[in-house]
Amino acid sequence: MSAQILDGKALAAEIRGKIKPEVDALKSAGVWPGLATLLVGENPASQVYIRSKHKACQEVGIRSFNLTLSQSSTNAEVMRKVEDLNADPQVHGILVQLPLPLQIDSNAVLSLIHPDKDVDGFHPQNLGRLFSAKDARDIFSAAKPIPVPCTPQGVIALIHKTGVPIAGRNAVVVGRSVIVGKPVFSLLLAHHATVTIAHSQTPNLAAVCRDADLLVVAIGIANKITGNMVKPGAVVVDVGMNRLAAGGLCGDVDFETAKETAGWITPVPGGVGPMTIVMLLQNTLLLAKNSCVAA
Ligand code: GUN
Repeated sequence: MSAQILDGKALAAEIRGKIKPEVDALKSAGVWPGLATLLVGENPASQVYIRSKHKACQEVGIRSFNLTLSQSSTNAEVMRKVEDLNADPQVHGILVQLPLPLQIDSNAVLSLIHPDKDVDGFHPQNLGRLFSAKDARDIFSAAKPIPVPCTPQGVIALIHKTGVPIAGRNAVVVGRSVIVGKPVFSLLLAHHATVTIAHSQTPNLAAVCRDADLLVVAIGIANKITGNMVKPGAVVVDVGMNRLAAGGLCGDVDFETAKETAGWITPVPGGVGPMTIVMLLQNTLLLAKNSCVAA
C-alpha cells in the first residue's frame, strides 16, 4: 500500500488565502504588518530562503524590509542593527537568518530581539512560554499568543491536516535542535501526545521510530529513515532538506521506501518548506495584532 501525500504546498496556499484578508483588515485599521529580515554574509542557501520570504510577504500584502550586513561584520554591528529594528514602529517582526557567521554570538543576537517582535519565536522568553504551556490553548489562545517557531508550527499544521488525532498517540521526534526538534516536542506535548526525542546517539533508532504513530524527522542526514523504520500507517513528516552531490534535493526520510509503509508522508520539496514560510507570515500577522493589545 502507498501512503497518502501530505501536500505542504497546497496547505500553505490555503493558509495564505486566509492571511491576506486579515492583513487587509489590519491595514484598514491603520496597522500595516511589517517584517524585517537581517542576513549577515552571502550564504547562497540563506539568500534563496530570504528571497522566498520577501516574495511571500508581497503576495499577502505584508510590508517587508530586507537588511544585509557583510560576512565580516562584528557582533556590535549586528547587535546595533537589531536594536534599530527593535525601535522601528514599522517593524512588527524581526528575523535574523541563521546560521550567522562564526564570529557572531547567535544566542546574544537572538536574545536581543524584543520578545514582542520575535517572529521566529527563538527568544528565550518565548521558548520558555512554549515550554511552560499546559496545552495548545496556552500557546495559541492566550491574551497575547506566543510566536511559535515557524517550522514546528508547520509540522503541527500538516499533522492536523491528516485528521489523525495527536492526543494519546506515540510521537517520535528525530532531532533535538532549538529550531525544530525541541519546539516540535513542546507542541506535540501540548497537544497531549506521548513524545520521545531521538537523536544521533540514540541506540536502536529503528525500533524507537517503529513505535511512532507520528514520526517527525529533522536530523539533517539524507535518507536516514528508511521504510523498515516506519510503523505501518504512521504519519511521517520530513523536515530534512539535503542537497545531493549529483544535484537535486532529498529529505531525511527515504521517501521511496517509507511511502510503502506510512499512512501519510510529506514530500521533499513541497512538504514542510512551504509551511515554514506561510507560518512566518502568520507570525508576522500575529505580532502586528499583538502590538495592538495593551502590554
Ligand atoms: N535557518 C534555517 N531555518 C531557519 C529559521 O526557521 N529561522 C531563521 N531565522 N533562520 C533559519
